[in-house]
Amino acid sequence: MAIDSFVRLRRLRRTPALRALVQETVLNPSQLIQPMFVAEGGNARRPLAAIPGTDLLSGDAIDDEAKRIADVGLKSVLLFGVLGSERKDPLASSSSEPNNPVCYAIDRIKTCQPEIAIIADLCLCEYTSHGHCGVLENGRISNDLTLNQLGMAAVNLARAGADVIAPSGVMDGVVLTLRKFLDSAGYQNVALMPYSAKFASCFYGPFKSASQSVPSESQHSTHQISIGNQREALRKIEIDVQEGADMVIVKPALTSLDILALAKENQCSVPLAGYDVSGFYSMIMNACDGDTAKSDAMILEILTIIRRAGAQMIITYHAKQVASILR
Ligand code: PBG
Ligand code: ZN
Repeated sequence: MAIDSFVRLRRLRRTPALRALVQETVLNPSQLIQPMFVAEGGNARRPLAAIPGTDLLSGDAIDDEAKRIADVGLKSVLLFGVLGSERKDPLASSSSEPNNPVCYAIDRIKTCQPEIAIIADLCLCEYTSHGHCGVLENGRISNDLTLNQLGMAAVNLARAGADVIAPSGVMDGVVLTLRKFLDSAGYQNVALMPYSAKFASCFYGPFKSASQSVPSESQHSTHQISIGNQREALRKIEIDVQEGADMVIVKPALTSLDILALAKENQCSVPLAGYDVSGFYSMIMNACDGDTAKSDAMILEILTIIRRAGAQMIITYHAKQVASILR
C-alpha cells in the first residue's frame, strides 16, 4: 500500500512540553532508595573515602541524615552496619544482638522520621571476624548454619522496627527460612526483598572497603551468580518469588539490564529493584571531579535507563543528588 505522507517523529520532539508528555520512563524520587552506612559511637559523620560523598554515621548524625533524605523528597533508605573488630566473631553473633548499630539506627530513624521506609540489608559479612558472608564449617561457608543465624538476625531487625529486610548473601533457601522465622516471631508484616540476581562482580569494590568486610580469600563465587549466567539469574528470581519474596533486587543493575528486561517481559510478579552499585558510582563521581552539572546529566541518563530496562525501584548512592534535581 502506498503511503502519501511520511512519518515525522520530530513533531512530538518540538517543545519541552510535548517531549515531557510522551516520555515513557520518568524518574520518581519515591522509587529511589538511598543507602546509609551506620556505626556505633558518638555523634559523628565520617566521610567514606571509597564512596566519595557518602558518610559513615553515628549518633545524632543519623537523625541529621534522615532529615536531609526526607527533605529532598526521598521515602526510603537501605541500611548497612559497619562494626568495629571488637564486635565481630566467627559466628556473626552481633547480628542477632538487639544493641547492634543497625538496630540502634533503625530506632533513631523511626523516632525522628517515622514516615521513611527502612530497608535493612542483611548479610553476615558485616558481622563476621573473617569477613565471609556466612558461618564457616571446615573453612567453607555452610549454607544451613548461615541460614539459622540469618533467621535470628532477621527477627532482631524486625523487632527493632525494620519495614523490609534485604538478605544480600544469596544463600539457598534464605527467603523461605527468613519468612518462617519472622512469621513465627509475629512479624508477618515485615517484607522480604532478597538480592535474587546478585552477580559475582568486581564492581562492589568500593563498598567492600567502605564496609570493612573484606575476607582474606573470597568465596563469593560459591554464592553469587557467575556473570555469564542469564538463565540462572532468571531462575533464582523465580525461586525467590516462589519462596515468598515480596520484591527482588538485580545487581549490579548497569551490567544486568538484560536480566531486568527479561524479568519484566516474563511478567515477574513482584516489584523489581535495580542496584546501581558502588563501583559505577565511584567511576561517575571520579570522572566528573566535582562538576555537578556534568554528574547530574550522567546520573539522570543512567538511572532512567535502569528504569527503562525494567526496574521499578533503584537503589543508588546518587539518590539524594537526583532527588534534588527532580524537585
Ligand atoms: C553485602 C553487600 C554487598 C553489597 C551490598 N550488600 C557487598 C557484597 O556482596 O560483596 C554491594 C553494594 C555496592 O557495591 O554498592 N553482602
Ligand atoms: Zn556479604
